[in-house]
Amino acid sequence: MQASGTDCILIIDFGSQLTQLIARRIREGGVYCEVHPFHKITVAFLQTFEAKGAVLSGGPGSVMGTMSPRVSERLFTLGIPILGICYGYQVLVTQLGGAVAHSTHREFGRTVVKVVDSCALFSDIWIPGSREQVWMSHGDRVVAPLPQGFRTVAVTDGAPFAAIADDDRRFYGVQFHPEVVHTPHGAALLHNFVRRLCRCRGDWSMAAFRTQAVEQVRAQVAGQRVLCAVSGGIDSAVTAVLVQEAIGDGLLCVFVDHGMMRLGESEQVISLFRERFNIRLIHRNAADLFMRKLKGIYDPERKRQMIGATFIDVFEEEAQREAKTDFLAQGTLYPDVIESVSFHGGPSVTIKSHHNVGGLPERMKLQLVEPLRTLFKDEVRQLGRILGLPDNMVRRHPFPGPGLAIRLIGQSVTRDKLDLLRRADAIYLEEVYDAGLYEAIWQAFAVLLPVRTVGVMGDARSYDHALALRAVTSTDGMTADFYPFDHAFLSRVANRIINEVKGINRVTYDITSKPPGTIEWE
Ligand code: XMP
Repeated sequence: MQASGTDCILIIDFGSQLTQLIARRIREGGVYCEVHPFHKITVAFLQTFEAKGAVLSGGPGSVMGTMSPRVSERLFTLGIPILGICYGYQVLVTQLGGAVAHSTHREFGRTVVKVVDSCALFSDIWIPGSREQVWMSHGDRVVAPLPQGFRTVAVTDGAPFAAIADDDRRFYGVQFHPEVVHTPHGAALLHNFVRRLCRCRGDWSMAAFRTQAVEQVRAQVAGQRVLCAVSGGIDSAVTAVLVQEAIGDGLLCVFVDHGMMRLGESEQVISLFRERFNIRLIHRNAADLFMRKLKGIYDPERKRQMIGATFIDVFEEEAQREAKTDFLAQGTLYPDVIESVSFHGGPSVTIKSHHNVGGLPERMKLQLVEPLRTLFKDEVRQLGRILGLPDNMVRRHPFPGPGLAIRLIGQSVTRDKLDLLRRADAIYLEEVYDAGLYEAIWQAFAVLLPVRTVGVMGDARSYDHALALRAVTSTDGMTADFYPFDHAFLSRVANRIINEVKGINRVTYDITSKPPGTIEWE
C-alpha cells in the first residue's frame, strides 16, 4: 500500500477505539500514515515498511496482564522517532526497562497536566510551568524509575509521569490522548512529532493521492479491462472516475437499477456517468425482475438476501455480454480494511466485508481494484471534489444497497408503495436541504409503516398509511443520535407530505438513538 517516495508514519494498533483518530490527525497534517495491528509487526515487516516514525496506540489491555500485547523489540533499534500513547506509552516504558503499576488514582476524561520541562515534542506549543487540558483514560500508570535516557516533562495528580521524553533517541510517551479534540493542543503535538521529529515533509495531499492512485491502477491492470458496479453512492462514483482517469475506455461500469432508488436518482447517475464523465455505462433497468423476485417477501433479511442474489445475477449477465474482464473495481474504504485488534489483544481479527457486491469477485474470478482502500470517508469526499464530482453527489447521505425496499417496513415491495414512499421522502429531503440542515445530518429518510390510520381531510374520513421520519447524527454509522428538529420544521414537513402525497395521512418522528435502535428500521 505504501507508495515509494511518500513519507509514511507507522501506527501500531493495540486495539484502542481511538486508533483511527490518530491516523486522521496525522493525515490532516499532510503526512501519510498506515495503521497495522501489533501482532503483524514482525522484524521482516519493519525491514520493508520504511516508516519515518512510529506511534504506539492506546488499548484496553494492561501491560501487567499475562500475554498482554507487546511490539517487536526491533522497533526500538531502527533509529526512528517513537511516540507511545496511553497503553502504547506503557508498552514503550515496559519494553525499555521501566515499570508500570495499578493506580488507586484512576483518571478518566478531562484532566489538567502541568508541564514541568521542555522537550522537542512540546516545541512552540507548551512551555514549562503551564497547565494544559488533556483527555485521559487510564487505570495503570508508569512509576519510577524511568527507563534510561528519559526525563519527566509533564505531570498530573494521578500520573506523576504524564509525559516523558528522550530527545536523543526521539522517544516520547504520553499518558493522555492527543488524538481527541478534548486535548485542545493534541493535534499540534502530533504534528510536531511527525513534522519536526520524524521530519516528514507534510506534502501528502489529495492531489498527490490522485496522481499516485491513477498510476497504481494503471500499473495493476496493465492494459486489461475493468468492471465496476455503480450504485449512485459516492464511493463507487469516485472509484469509477479515478479508474477511468487511469485506463479510459478500458473501464466498463454497470448500474443495476433495482427500481428502489430515491426520486430522480437513477437519472442523475446515468447523466453523471455518461454526460459529465463520458464513462462507458450499462444501465440495466431490472425493476420488473426485482419486483417479481420480491413478491410476497416480508422478512427484512430475506429481502436483503433476495436483492443481493438478484443483483449479482443481473450484474454477471450484463458483464458477460462484454469481452472478457479480469478486474472488478470497488469502493472499499479504509475503515473496512483495517483489521480490528480484539479487546484482549489476542491475534483474532475481524475484517468487515463489502456487503453490496459480496461474492461477486470469487464467482466471476475477478481480481479487485480498490483505489480508495487507504482513505477515510471524508477523504473520499475531498477526492470526489478534486475529481470534479458535483457537490450534491459528494455530500450525499449514505443510502443502503437494498434501497427503499428496507424502508417499506414489514411489507412486501410493490411499485405503488415504493412510489408513495419515494414522494414523501423527496419532500422531506427537500425541506431538510432548504432549512440548511443537510450537512449536519448523517442520514435523513422516510419509512412507510405497515399500518393505516383514520384521519379527517376536508369533511371526509381518510384511512391511509402512517409514515415515520428519521434523521440521525453520527460519525461512522456505528452509533447515532436522533436529530433534534424544531417543532415548526417537523410540522411543515408533516403538512406538506399529508397534503401532497395522497395515501399518507399521518406522520411521526422517530426519536430513538442507536443503540438501542438501528439507523434503518429493518
Ligand atoms: P443500521 O440500520 O445497521 O445502519 O444502523 C448503519 C448504516 O448502514 C446502512 N445499511 C446498509 N447499507 N446494505 C447497505 O449497503 C444494507 O443492507 C444496509 N443496511 C443498513 C444504513 O443505511 C446506515 O447508513
